[in-house]
Amino acid sequence: MRSASSTLRTDEPPSGGPCITVWNLDMAYGDVLVQRDLNFTVQPGEVFIIMGRSGCGKSTLLRHMVGLHPPARGDVLYDGESFWRSHPHSRARMLRHLGVLYQGGALWSSMTVAENVALPLRKFTELSAAEIRRVTALKLALVGLAGAEDYYPAELSGGMQRRAGLARAIALDPTILFLDEPSAGLDPVSARLLDDLILDLRDGLRATVVVVTHELASIFGIGDRAVFLDAETHTMIAAGPPATLLKETANPAVRSFLTRGASEGADRSTRRATAAVDPEKANGAAREA
Ligand SMILES: Nc1ncnc2c1ncn2[C@@H]1O[C@H](COP(=O)(O)OP(=O)(O)O)[C@@H](O)[C@H]1O
Ligand SMILES: [Mg+2]
Repeated sequence: MRSASSTLRTDEPPSGGPCITVWNLDMAYGDVLVQRDLNFTVQPGEVFIIMGRSGCGKSTLLRHMVGLHPPARGDVLYDGESFWRSHPHSRARMLRHLGVLYQGGALWSSMTVAENVALPLRKFTELSAAEIRRVTALKLALVGLAGAEDYYPAELSGGMQRRAGLARAIALDPTILFLDEPSAGLDPVSARLLDDLILDLRDGLRATVVVVTHELASIFGIGDRAVFLDAETHTMIAAGPPATLLKETANPAVRSFLTRGASEGADRSTRRATAAVDPEKANGAAREA
C-alpha cells in the first residue's frame, strides 16, 4: 500500500475509539430497500473506502452519513454520539465538522472558483470579505490551484474541477472528509495525483477520510480499510483492509469486484495462452483486451 496511513502519526494521543460508527443501519427510498444491517466503524486518521458495484447504495450510504437522508432503521454515531437521534442543534454542530465532495464535483457553473470555495465560509462563518479571500486563496493553494480564483469551472480540466471541489470541501477545516467518486472519469495520471492529494490533505488537516469509489487503483492505493456493499443481497458482505480482502475473501462477488472479474473463469487466460502461439488469435485477443 502506498500510504503510510496505517501508521497513525505518533504525536497524536491514543485514539478514544472510532470517530464514526454505522450501527444496524437500514437504508430505503420509500418501500424500496437499498441496504440493510450495515455495521462498521471508521477510525480516526484512516482512509476508509465504501465500495461496490454501481447502484449498490454507496452514495445513499454517504447521504445517510452526512445528514441528507434519514435511516429506515439504525443510526450513525460521531465520536459515540448519536447523529440521527440527536436534537437538530446537535446535528448541526456535528455537520460543521464534515466536509463533502459530492459525486461529479458539483461546482456551481455560474460562479468562479473563488466564489464556489467561499460559499461555506459565507454561510457558516462571520469572516470579513478580505478574510474570506485570504482563506480561499489558502485552500486553493493546498489543492494545487493557487491563482485559479477567477476561472469558471468550465474553463478548468476535469482534474482541476475535482481539486476545486476539494478546496470547497475543506473550506471549514473539517475533521472528516467525505468524497464520492473523486477520481471517476479522470485519466489514470490525474486520478493518481488526486489520490496523492487526498493523502496530503488527510495528513495536513489531521482528518479522517471516507471515500466512495469503485476504482481499484484508489482502493488499493490509499484505502486503509474498506466495506463492500453487495447489490444482490442488499447488505455488506466484506470488511477489512483491501489487500487482505483480496487475499482472503471466499466470496465470489467480492473477489470478482477486486479482480475486475478476472477470477470469474479461466476462459480469458486460456484465450490469451492460445493467442500467444497463434498470431491470428493474438490480434483478436489484443482487440479484446
Ligand atoms: N433519490 C432516490 N430515490 C429513489 N431511488 C434512488 C434515489 N437515489 C438512488 N436511488 C436508487 O438507490 C439505489 C442505490 O443508488 P446509489 O446510492 O446512487 O448507488 P451507487 O452510489 O452505489 O451507484 C439505486 O438502485 C438507485 O437507483
Ligand atoms: Mg454513487
